Amino acid sequence: MDEKLLRIQELKKEKNAVILAHYYTPDEVQAVSDFVGDSFYLSQIAEQVQEQTIVMCGVRFMGESAKILNPDKTVLLPAANADCPMAHMATVERIAEMQAQYDDLAVVCYVNSTAELKMHADVCVTSANALKIVKALPNHNIFFIPDENLGRFVAAQIPEKHFIFNDGCCPVHAFLSAADVRAAKAAHPGAPVLVHPECRPEVSALADYAGSTAGIIRYAGENSAGEFIIGTEHGVLYELKKQNPGKKFYPLHEEQICPNMKRVTLDKVIAALENGTPAVHMDADSIRRAHAPLQRMLDLS
Ligand code: 13P
Ligand code: SF4
Repeated sequence: MDEKLLRIQELKKEKNAVILAHYYTPDEVQAVSDFVGDSFYLSQIAEQVQEQTIVMCGVRFMGESAKILNPDKTVLLPAANADCPMAHMATVERIAEMQAQYDDLAVVCYVNSTAELKMHADVCVTSANALKIVKALPNHNIFFIPDENLGRFVAAQIPEKHFIFNDGCCPVHAFLSAADVRAAKAAHPGAPVLVHPECRPEVSALADYAGSTAGIIRYAGENSAGEFIIGTEHGVLYELKKQNPGKKFYPLHEEQICPNMKRVTLDKVIAALENGTPAVHMDADSIRRAHAPLQRMLDLS
C-alpha cells in the first residue's frame, strides 16, 4: 500500500479522526478521504460523524462550517491559507442598509461566506438547496449574498419574490463566457453541457443542466449520453470518471481550476494529523450566532 495512505490510516486511528473532502480538491486527496462531496453534503456529514477530529480538505469557510456545527470537536484545515475569495465579497454594512430598507427582508447567505457574514444572515443555502429554501421562506424580499450569479439563477425560478443582489462572484466560474460554451459545443456536438450556477446567467442559460457539483455528477450518471462538457472546477472530473468509466468528459475551459482548493495536499493532511494544527478556532458567541442560519438550512433541506 502507498506509504502516505498507510500513514494517514495509522494517524486517523491514533487521533480518532475522519477526513472530509470537497470535489474540487486534488485527486489524491479525494482518494484518501472518508467522505467526498459538495458543500451541502459536507455540512450534513460534518454534523453526523462520530470521530473527535474532523479534517476538512477544502477552503476556510468549509472548516468554519464544520466547527460551527461541532463546537466541541477539533476541526483541522490542512491548508490554512486556502480561502475562498467570494466568501469576503459582501459586507455587514450593506446587510444593515438592506434590513433598514425592507421590513420583511430575509438575508440569504450562500455557505461560501465568512462566519461573520453568516452571523448576520437569516438562513444559509448551498447551490444544492438554495431554490428549495428560498421558495420555503415566508419573506417576499430576499437579499442574496455573496454570489450574484447564484442569486440570479435562483431568482429566475422564483419570479414571485423580489431579490436584491450583491456584487460578488466566484472568479473560477464567472470568467466563463457564452462564447466558451459555443466553442465547446462546436468541438463536441451533441454532448450535453453541465455547469455550476456560479457561472454567469448567459452561460447557465446555454447549458443543458445547471446545478451543484453533486447535481452535475448525478446528472451525468443518469443521462444516457456518452460524453459531456463540464463547466465547473476540474476536480469533479475525478469522481465523474470513477463513476462512469465508459463515458467521456471534456472540461468547458482548460483553466477552470480553483487555486485555493488545490492548496490541499497529502503532505499537509499528514502534517495536520500529526501536529493537531492548523485548527479552526472561533469564539463561542460567533459560533452561537453563525449556527442558527446554518442549522435552519439543514432543517429546511
Ligand atoms: P458546491 O459544493 O455547492 O457544488 O459549490 C461549489 C463551490 O464553489 C464550492 O467552493
Ligand atoms: Fe470559492 Fe469559487 Fe474556489 Fe469555490 S471554486 S472555493 S466558490 S473560488
